[in-house]
Amino acid sequence: LFPWAQNRLPTAIKPLRYELNIHPNLTSMTFRGSVTISVQALQATWKIILHSTGHNISRVTFMPAVSSQEKQVEVLEYPFHEQIAIVAPEALLEGHNYTLKIEFSANISRSYYGFYGISYTDESKEKKYFAATQFEPLAARSAFPCFDEPAFKATFIIRIIRDSQHSALSNMPKKSSIVMEDGLIQDEFFESVKMSTYLVAFIVGEMKNLSQDLNGTLVSIYAVPEKINQVHHALDTTVKLLEFYQNYFEIQYPLKKLDLVAIPDFEAGAMENWGLITFREETLLYDNNTSSVADRKLVTKIIAHELAHQWFGNLVTMQWWNDLWLNEGFATFMEYFSLEKIFEELSSYEDFLDARFKTMKKDSLNSSHPISSSSIQSTEQIEEMFDSLSYFKGASLLLMLKTFLSEDVFQHVIVLYLHNHSYASIQSDDLWDSFNEVTNKTLDVKKMMKTWTLQKGFPLVTVQRKGKELVIQQERLFVNMKPEIQPSDASCLWHIPVSYITDRKQYSQYQSVSFLDKKSGVINLTEEVQWVKVNVNMSGYYMVHYANEDWEALIKQLKTNPYVLSDKDRANLINNIFELAGIGKMPLQRAFDLIDYLGNETHTAPITEALFQTGRIYNLLEKLGHMDLAARLVTRVFKLLQNQIQQQTWSDEGTPSMRELRSVLLEFACTYSQENCRTTAMKLFEDWMVSNGTHSLPTDVMTTVFKVGSKTEKGWSFLLSIYYTVSSEAEKNKILEALASSDDVRKLYWLMKSSLDGDIIQTQKLSFIIRTVGRRFPGHLLAWDFVKENWNKLVQKFHLGSYTIQSIVAASTHLFSTKAHLSEVRAFFENESETTFRLRCVQEALEVIQLNIQWMEKNLNTLTLWL
Ligand code: BES
Ligand code: ZN
Repeated sequence: LFPWAQNRLPTAIKPLRYELNIHPNLTSMTFRGSVTISVQALQATWKIILHSTGHNISRVTFMPAVSSQEKQVEVLEYPFHEQIAIVAPEALLEGHNYTLKIEFSANISRSYYGFYGISYTDESKEKKYFAATQFEPLAARSAFPCFDEPAFKATFIIRIIRDSQHSALSNMPKKSSIVMEDGLIQDEFFESVKMSTYLVAFIVGEMKNLSQDLNGTLVSIYAVPEKINQVHHALDTTVKLLEFYQNYFEIQYPLKKLDLVAIPDFEAGAMENWGLITFREETLLYDNNTSSVADRKLVTKIIAHELAHQWFGNLVTMQWWNDLWLNEGFATFMEYFSLEKIFEELSSYEDFLDARFKTMKKDSLNSSHPISSSSIQSTEQIEEMFDSLSYFKGASLLLMLKTFLSEDVFQHVIVLYLHNHSYASIQSDDLWDSFNEVTNKTLDVKKMMKTWTLQKGFPLVTVQRKGKELVIQQERLFVNMKPEIQPSDASCLWHIPVSYITDRKQYSQYQSVSFLDKKSGVINLTEEVQWVKVNVNMSGYYMVHYANEDWEALIKQLKTNPYVLSDKDRANLINNIFELAGIGKMPLQRAFDLIDYLGNETHTAPITEALFQTGRIYNLLEKLGHMDLAARLVTRVFKLLQNQIQQQTWSDEGTPSMRELRSVLLEFACTYSQENCRTTAMKLFEDWMVSNGTHSLPTDVMTTVFKVGSKTEKGWSFLLSIYYTVSSEAEKNKILEALASSDDVRKLYWLMKSSLDGDIIQTQKLSFIIRTVGRRFPGHLLAWDFVKENWNKLVQKFHLGSYTIQSIVAASTHLFSTKAHLSEVRAFFENESETTFRLRCVQEALEVIQLNIQWMEKNLNTLTLWL
């Protein structure tokens, strides 16, 4: 009988140090290993419970630290909890140390999780093998037996046996290499700092690197040999960011080296393993001829994110996965913060703003969850914490606090928090305590922030001007208009910093802020004003609804001179009014009325938001077969933006923000309406084809050119043939997007199928392909059929609840808007299993379809009459 019934490990035994030996065989896809774990008993006990799954355990020995007598012991297994138990031959005494040695063998994983193996063909068509690890959140236990919970921090000594043509990397610098009798080589790495198991990593494969020293830390970028010329941008960026973070946090990066490695096949975007950060090739490598400004931003952002984790997550770690946002929310916040500070020209605030819009949309659903949940237990629940709420709601709340408390106070808190908890584990309350220590009773940050982290959703702040006063109220924003579905509102209350500007009080460093911690309040404006805009720069995590006259005044101001408001505020108004119209709080015409000023808009954020909102409406209309209405909508939007579109050139000139705007506008024009746009794109495509793909195209419009080119049979086939040969992932992705935007369902099906098989198109691309196919008609029907047909294989590859599965479910269902589709999607997941049906992404998908139905019921007639 297994002596432990719980999911979480007992706390009587604490691991101190692991010595891990791994000997992989990359061709047979198996490995042998042994692990020696030094543990300390915190309470007297007979049993040692730890994690292990998929191991063939051949021998276990036990030894008290004071004796030198190894005793072989029995091991019990409980696969359901992925645990093993060792019953000691003698009672373990409180405060005493013991050593446990486990010998085992296992298969190298064929998914992207655990210790996994891949093969790829290099430029001379030779087959190559590569192995890497991805342990977060729960897969260290499948590589070696360990106490696989983040709070069990210990040190690690790692040894890897490899072939001579390969190199091996791990978290720490290499200490020694020994050639063994059989010609194999054993690399030993220095003992690590105290860290969690999910951050352990090792890699074996053929790689080259480029390195640079920064005050005693050797920074290296690794890639497969033929891509070594694409690592320069990453190296420059990493060095700058590392320097920035060390100064900002006032804590040195503690290791002597930091490796960033582009892995030839990788599920996530990147992973912050301490000292050995792993990436997809497309998120680390940068190619001067084919990477666009969006690609450059992606690489810069992801490096900034993973480097921030070296402090937030690695040095200071959440005690348990329910507080994942302390890792991911902080890393995401720091990602945008550091980019604003040292790569200001990239205007990454535009992306952060856009992410806040998308996150609030998700958070307004009933299927949302508090970012700091209390009852996270099962594997699926842990996987599901990796969603955009942990990342972006977390980051948005930190932005709100930073803006409210000032940048200096905020930094002061961060430095204090990191110093106080280095090499330890924390809960949300520890962070709030650090804030309160600094704010010193002028504000109870803990009380304030609990209203944001322990409740799902966010407030809708309603404002109405009455003379010199502004009456403000808060309620929870509900997207579901059917009152019987809305839970009672009484318990929802947030502590909101309500910031505002007026025509009299413009932007300044010290904004006017009023603190609303009740249902309603009054702000004294001190004078009569023409208009007021609440939630300045949208740095607060809430939406704003105005009284009719106040909306009127803002719309009028936008038409006379939009530039008295910042681009963030203009985009924010567009977002708010469309979302409010979507839930019936505003007539849809008013939203269109507001964006009538767009002819004068020069900035990227408001235009992309307007295109997103109208594009969503277009998508729904198109999928329902209302082609005529959809066409009229496009005509209207096109008229609004025609000046800006006509000004565009087919080049890479201008600031990053202008370049992104160009990319969005020309894509819109070519997709929907404009003949001469398509003609130009086709001409560029044909020249490129004639040059056999060698002639370089402007990178920011490359996808658009490829999409237009892929519309002919010849163009599509040519693109596919080039796909196999190019060595830039940035270019590959642009080709793939074009291939997956075809109208030919057989081609689309072939793409998805090939990517699932993984030979011609890597399986890591599948969720991107499904997303692209799922956007257009008729691909969206096909994407859903494909997901249904291959559900089991998908779950096997990407595991239930994972970020990839979440994204696949959303991508293949989010544009359905009929009752028939609703019941079909429900029936499919219900039939799969109880666990599947209860996945949050499934519940979310059902809710989104319901809302689409509701949106159509509400707005279709209006649109028909008025467009
Ligand atoms: N810690 C995550 C990687 C991860 C994701 C592990 C999901 C387990 C499950 C890493 O720091 C991360 O957040 N990666 C992001 C990229 C980031 C820039 C948003 C990713 O992989 O998408
Ligand atoms: Zn992260």
